[in-house]
Amino acid sequence: MLRFTFWCLLTVFLVCVFATQVSFHSSHVEWQPGALGDNDLEDWSLDTSPHPNSTDHLVFETVHSLLQRWPNTRMRNGHAIVPGIIPKGTLLYHGTTSNVFPTMHEWFATDPEHSYLFCGISVEAECWLFTIATTRPLKVVYFDGSSAAKLQDGALDTQDLLLWGEPRGGTAKEDMQRIEDICKWGGKYKVDAFVSEVMLCDPTSGVRVISSSNLASPLTQWPQKTLLEVSAFEIMNAAAWHNRLPGETRVHLNLAGLVTFYDTQLAPSLVPIRAGQERWDHRVQGISSEDLSATRTRLEEVLTRQEGLSSGIDWASLIQVIVDRYAERLDSVQYLLSAPATNPDDVLDLANKTQTQLRTELDWATPVFRLCATTHTCSMDSELSFMTDSEKLVLQAVRGTTREICRVVTKMWVAGVHAGIDPLLNTKEHFDVAKVAHLRNAWLEDLNHLITWLDWSEWVKCNPACDREEVCYLPTWPVGFPGGDKLGYVSTIFPPITEEWIRPQPKCIRRVAPYGF
Ligand SMILES: *[C@@H]1O[C@H](CO)[C@@H](O)[C@H](O)[C@H]1NC(C)=O
Ligand SMILES: *[C@@H]1O[C@H](CO)[C@@H](O)[C@H](O)[C@H]1NC(C)=O
Repeated sequence: MLRFTFWCLLTVFLVCVFATQVSFHSSHVEWQPGALGDNDLEDWSLDTSPHPNSTDHLVFETVHSLLQRWPNTRMRNGHAIVPGIIPKGTLLYHGTTSNVFPTMHEWFATDPEHSYLFCGISVEAECWLFTIATTRPLKVVYFDGSSAAKLQDGALDTQDLLLWGEPRGGTAKEDMQRIEDICKWGGKYKVDAFVSEVMLCDPTSGVRVISSSNLASPLTQWPQKTLLEVSAFEIMNAAAWHNRLPGETRVHLNLAGLVTFYDTQLAPSLVPIRAGQERWDHRVQGISSEDLSATRTRLEEVLTRQEGLSSGIDWASLIQVIVDRYAERLDSVQYLLSAPATNPDDVLDLANKTQTQLRTELDWATPVFRLCATTHTCSMDSELSFMTDSEKLVLQAVRGTTREICRVVTKMWVAGVHAGIDPLLNTKEHFDVAKVAHLRNAWLEDLNHLITWLDWSEWVKCNPACDREEVCYLPTWPVGFPGGDKLGYVSTIFPPITEEWIRPQPKCIRRVAPYGF
């Protein structure tokens, strides 16, 4: 049995290596932005970390975050534009002060809690909530990040750049202009709607009104402060249903049409702008006009491409499989390594020498690293000719990301083998405790580095977990946001927070009264 497994592994390995050699002819190329194979798959040194300008991990996490609110609340400045559909029979909601159903482009929501607030502008106004159902699949374009938040600092960049070539930010006036212009643009490609909120371009086509309800205005039910608090929390809660996988399931995206400003081949001018920045600070403004027009052209291609012209690979699942495999494990190893332990200084030097030895003796571990790094993707080389540019980008992201995970994990494992604590290989009778303590520190450093690089939203949670009367919350627009007072009143009730919203961190807040952020 063992023998059989071994031969299977070896066969897979050989197939992969063969394929690798066919596709990745260059042995030691300079790093080029994003080209497939540029990840230097011939370089299996355990000390070669990813190039600082590489965006493989960012594209990987982008794909893994699509349509989920949590990661897109944390990293608000979206970079990706993805075509998709809203299937037939999907309900959408629209809250307004008039009983006349709109006939022009309008905002719709996937949850009524969200729409309800929009009929409560004043005590005198009536409150109408329209429910509509799609009668055919709607062709949509999705923007990632907090692309419905009316912010000035980058959340609307991708839409604005696409439309106007420059960011204009989020006032009500710009908002009207944006939906008008985006629908005009999308009309050329028969796009029915744009999604973060649903900007429906023609409410007379592809949808049917199911009901129109004249509801008590939210303002007549509660005093203003209470209304705002309750509404804010209910909107937040409704949105939180889509926080994590499977995310907003009423929108189906086609990853074979993914276009992202993290594609360094498509938008190389953004590479120097991002250099040295943390992800929160990435913006797409400053892109060169050539890169912008190349991106527009790519998007037009994607939107006019015949259906079915792609490899058929399920990229979302592939990425999920990899996250499932590593997210929890890396997290728990980090936890174990972070537990305090004493570490006598005098053996540190010796441990260091062992570590140096390790690095020079690594050759035998290379096959393990290589197999680990290519096992998810090596079979895909034969599909390359069927892949769209978007798919090649995702493939590269998966390769670059798994390669780094495997590099670090293999390196750590090797260190354990050398220290004699591996139960199957080179096991020692007696341990030098201090040496092992040092090993733990080295492991922790490597692992922290990897975890920071990957920065998966999976790991962003309230710890300890929240109480039954609480929810885990990431500061977000509009409540409590600087600029959130665009709604006119919010900041007077919840004073603007400053630092917290730039780099949102999770925290437990109350889910029922008395509320507070
Ligand atoms: C990353 O890109 C910037 C801008 O193009 C460049 O100045 C820098 O040298 C690059 N970093 C490395 C390590 O090559
Ligand atoms: C380990 O050794 C290297 C070179 O021999 C040295 O540069 C480094 O400072 C040492 N580190 C520790 C923690 O002793």
